[in-house]
Amino acid sequence: MKCGIIFFSALLWAFQNPIEAKINYNYMDEREMLHLGETFKEIERLENVVKHRHAAAFALGSDDYINGSISGVNDMMEIFNKIRWISRHYDRLRRFEMDKYENITQISLAEAQVSKKEGENLQAMEEIHRKLFGRDDLIGLLARGNQQFQIYTCKTPQSPQQFLYRFYLDYVLLELKVHALVEWSWMLLRKFGRGGSIDEENESREAYKRRTSGTLSKIKEFMSQTDRSVWRCDPRNHKLGVTYEEVTSLLQGYIENEVDLNTDGSCKRGCGYYTSSKNEGCFNNKFCSEQPKCPGGVYDCRFVESDMEICQADKNSNRRYEFIQYKSGLVHGRKKSCGTWLNRARSWNRWIFMECSYCVCLCDDQSPKSDRYFNLRPMIADVDNNRVVTGLRFVKRNRIFHLQIQEGELLPLGVINETTIQWKPVDAYTITDNDVKESVDFHMLTYEKRSIDLGELKVENNSVVTGLRFQVVGTHLQMQAQFSRVDFEKGMLIEPKSTSFWVSGAGDQQRERLPLKEVDVPTESHVPSIPFPNENQYIEFTNTGFYQDAAQSTVPYIDIRDVISDPVVPLSGIGIYYKGRDGYGGFLAPKILTYDFTPHVQLPTWESLNSRKVEDNIVN
Ligand SMILES: *[C@@H]1O[C@H](CO)[C@@H](O)[C@H](O)[C@H]1NC(C)=O
Ligand SMILES: *[C@@H]1O[C@H](CO)[C@@H](O)[C@H](O)[C@H]1NC(C)=O
Ligand SMILES: *[C@@H]1O[C@H](CO)[C@@H](O)[C@H](O)[C@H]1NC(C)=O
Ligand SMILES: *[C@@H]1O[C@H](CO)[C@@H](O)[C@H](O)[C@H]1NC(C)=O
Ligand SMILES: *[C@@H]1O[C@H](CO)[C@@H](O)[C@H](O)[C@H]1NC(C)=O
Repeated sequence: MKCGIIFFSALLWAFQNPIEAKINYNYMDEREMLHLGETFKEIERLENVVKHRHAAAFALGSDDYINGSISGVNDMMEIFNKIRWISRHYDRLRRFEMDKYENITQISLAEAQVSKKEGENLQAMEEIHRKLFGRDDLIGLLARGNQQFQIYTCKTPQSPQQFLYRFYLDYVLLELKVHALVEWSWMLLRKFGRGGSIDEENESREAYKRRTSGTLSKIKEFMSQTDRSVWRCDPRNHKLGVTYEEVTSLLQGYIENEVDLNTDGSCKRGCGYYTSSKNEGCFNNKFCSEQPKCPGGVYDCRFVESDMEICQADKNSNRRYEFIQYKSGLVHGRKKSCGTWLNRARSWNRWIFMECSYCVCLCDDQSPKSDRYFNLRPMIADVDNNRVVTGLRFVKRNRIFHLQIQEGELLPLGVINETTIQWKPVDAYTITDNDVKESVDFHMLTYEKRSIDLGELKVENNSVVTGLRFQVVGTHLQMQAQFSRVDFEKGMLIEPKSTSFWVSGAGDQQRERLPLKEVDVPTESHVPSIPFPNENQYIEFTNTGFYQDAAQSTVPYIDIRDVISDPVVPLSGIGIYYKGRDGYGGFLAPKILTYDFTPHVQLPTWESLNSRKVEDNIVN
């Protein structure tokens, strides 16, 4: 938005070009010099604002991501090439000011600028404008069909709205440069007696005016409709502890003989009977003595085959088993050579007619191996020092998941003071600390309570996100967001202690479960995840499929990469969503909604432009 205001003073200069003053040639020269000098300054200022940011050009221009068959992409590439070309001319013009150059060199640059020939700058500008705002409506395509550009925009941590704005700034800079080039050129050519006719000079200015006049209202309209969320696409390579973390051993495939699932040591009911039971012993030290017993509930047992080989996982692994191979050849999990322990488990008969079968069940393994905790303590930005939330990421600390906030000092017009940005340290407590209580400080996932609500929390009045917390609503874990009122112009939180308020989503009754059944681990997918629609949904942490993974992992995984925007901005919302692919367990991840600064992008009317004195507008 700062850029918006700078942009206006530059445009004002450009449009306030008093052509009538041409009567006095010498006087005009001075005015023109002044005008040009100011245009240079504005271009410099705008360039400083957009420098160090991820340029839209950067996002689109990286070769390894170009796919020409997506509509618009080739046009975008062409535009960026022209931007580079015109910028080179502009840089040459600026060098002429510093050093002495041959007259002929300067004249040839000037003539290229005012030429109306095909492919020269004036034509190129007309072309770019037509593509963006004319019939081709590239800007509209960017605004509406952003999914098509997703793989490109993935490269920049920007919401589609920011991307559009940033792209528009590139365009504005370009128009200003062309304007400066043309004005400078006419001036130079006149000096050498090669100036154009009044009509000719007028025409190039009028073209500029015609092109730029409608663009701001158009971009503003598009921006107000454009998605403002920032989320992370999958990384090229998933890496445990770096790009993702796991809830571990929440529900895990577990082999147990029926005889050990009841208190009377009988085998008369069959595996299917045991939907919710627990381990009750270890008859005859058979397979049960070869594995750690399940310390929690044993659920959803079934009979598969009576004879199997079980490859147990390494003691340090989160898995119990690498794979299970049945006599028939059926394999649960990924078969490989078993470098650890291979055990045989074979059902046996008791009194000839009663078979004591090995059942395949799920173990709710509440042991120290199981990381299944979520922090319930609030995470609040330092509002007393005017800090607001600017980013989110999940971290796992001492087996507990925290949703960590990035905070930064709010300055006027939605700018964040970059030197103050930091990830607020999480409370690094452990679940066994003396003063730490379950359901107060942390939530423990169990077979009965393992759902998490999905969706966005946003507020459209003048408020920004200043904190968050998890609460247990019904049996669901639910994120809630704290908002505080803000004076956008002054860049101040308004009495955050008294005006802050919490926003939460719908209760668990009104939500639908996003089903996740018999899936593989998400890191095995060869195609990148896509976000699922998530309003009024929830998802249950659950085991992977028996067939795919011997039900050894807990899904969804949790994406732990930073979710921030560039430039860093205040947020008008945050959310948790699920992304994945059919057949795979997917990832849970946070998203942020950038503050909607469209209302603050100012829109002067032509009348007000003409009635105000130029000087008043340059002060900014
Ligand atoms: C390029 O995009 C088209 C259309 O979306 C798609 O069908 C094709 O697979 C893509 N090619 C590559 C190499 O990504
Ligand atoms: C360049 O043009 C200026 C102004 O017309 C003239 O004074 C100067 O002598 C020229 N220089 C050369 C090297 O022609
Ligand atoms: C410049 O051209 C526009 C339209 O092309 C015309 O309305 C305007 O009067 C012209 N100005 C001058 C100073 O010739
Ligand atoms: C940004 O923060 C730094 C460090 O706190 C401070 O010194 C500086 O004055 C701030 N900048 C602005 C523009 O407030
Ligand atoms: C802003 O909106 C939220 C939720 O929509 C509401 O709770 C809050 O009272 C509103 N604040 C003001 C000052 O309107």
